[in-house]
Amino acid sequence: MAAPPPATELPIREGEGEKKTAATEQEINPWDVQAGQDEQGNTLQFDYVAISKKWATKLIDEDLLQRFERLTGKKPHRWLRRGLFFSHRDFDKILDKYEAGEPFFLYTGRGPSSDALHLGHTIPFTFTKWLQDVFDVPLVIMLTDDEKALFKEKLTFEETHKFGLQNAKDIIACGFDVKKTFIFSDLEYISGHFLYNVWEFSKLLPFNQVRGAFGFDGSTNIGRIMFPAVQCAAAFATSYPQIWPNYDPKADRSKAIAKIPCLIPCAIDQDPYFRLVRDNSTRMRHPTPKPALIHSKFLTALQGAGGKMSASDPNSAIFMTDTPNQIKNKIIKHAFSGGRESLEEHRRLGGIPEVDVAFQYLSYFEDDDAKLLEIETSYRNGTLLTGELKKMAIAMLQEYVAEFQERRKGVTDEVMRSYMTPRELEWKGNPNPVKKEKKAKGGKGEAKPAEAKPAEAKPAEKEG
Ligand code: TYM
Repeated sequence: MAAPPPATELPIREGEGEKKTAATEQEINPWDVQAGQDEQGNTLQFDYVAISKKWATKLIDEDLLQRFERLTGKKPHRWLRRGLFFSHRDFDKILDKYEAGEPFFLYTGRGPSSDALHLGHTIPFTFTKWLQDVFDVPLVIMLTDDEKALFKEKLTFEETHKFGLQNAKDIIACGFDVKKTFIFSDLEYISGHFLYNVWEFSKLLPFNQVRGAFGFDGSTNIGRIMFPAVQCAAAFATSYPQIWPNYDPKADRSKAIAKIPCLIPCAIDQDPYFRLVRDNSTRMRHPTPKPALIHSKFLTALQGAGGKMSASDPNSAIFMTDTPNQIKNKIIKHAFSGGRESLEEHRRLGGIPEVDVAFQYLSYFEDDDAKLLEIETSYRNGTLLTGELKKMAIAMLQEYVAEFQERRKGVTDEVMRSYMTPRELEWKGNPNPVKKEKKAKGGKGEAKPAEAKPAEAKPAEKEG
């Protein structure tokens, strides 16, 4: 395993979830993310343990990461090692599938409310690309242009559709393999089997469940009320009949394909949607396994504590279109510092990495655990100054954004359309699956007996 993770931003501590000091509670849902406030009106850090407890997700622990490494032979991504992806639902079941060489797919998405992604949005996509490389599985990416026009009063469907196509280019620039990736705009793609799933699933959802999950009331437009069924139905493998082998345009939704589960990487704000799927997916005509999830924290706003980088507040965010100079100025002017008032005080008392935004960004992008720990230690003991720390963060972010922009230049309309064409995807999965018999003999209980592999799930030549 990797060296012990440095105590980077927002470490999760025992008992953190029990804190009862907030005068206002944090609010986290897909449209509104706000940290709590204490009695003095100070904004608090997000309490991720509390949200995990409240929503009954599981925290990612060392055992899970070790098992991941054993099965895949890959060191966990730095965002896993550092607890930035901190929580999950049934990720262990996905590892069971991987171990047995059974099919599963990745599903993630973007709500196109603006024409450029910010740094925070690239976190789930960059992580998903890494998962795609590690697991070698198909991936679907949903652009909810319908959602954004329904939820943002000022945006039309035409505008969100255009934003979606621009966002698709940004998403492609995160490095996805075209052979294994299908990107779709809701406004363009939803029809056929996907639409059947949306309606069938909507029939299973009483308004009470949706109202409870999203806080809708009698004045909410009915498009918003219906939309969750759309984002939920995207978790069903049968919504994408063309990506699986042996596609037959005349066939009905297939029972075998319905059994293929998905893993959804996202920030924790998207979880309420998928709780609805998990509560109801086995009630579909062809029962579908509950989708698994892996949740990230929010990349902090430049202003620091309790803020989420957000496209609607340009000063809170670094955009993937920003120039090196803009990045530099934003960090110098706006990045909240954990340094002290004067040089003398800083040398004496040391900085506070936990609240320092430049340090937090470094913890996302510096891959070397030992180097990060050294930076943290010297900042904490006052040897490293805020200006020096900011300089490191600026260089790192300029590099990340410049590499992205270089890839983005190559994403023409034609390239974008190649990802957005419904077609059979190509993947191989686990090259060394553990056969059912072997697992049974091993008898350590780690690997459960595998379910039968759905006949249409993989082409014959791909079975190993
Ligand atoms: P959207 O466009 O709000 O966000 C896209 C993805 O980015 C995550 N995210 C962040 N991650 C880290 N730090 C931040 N500051 C930050 N802000 C946003 C979101 O959690 C999301 O993963 N309704 C969705 C689109 C969608 C989707 C999905 C997302 C459809 N199906 C499945 C994830 C998984 C939306 O509006 O995302």
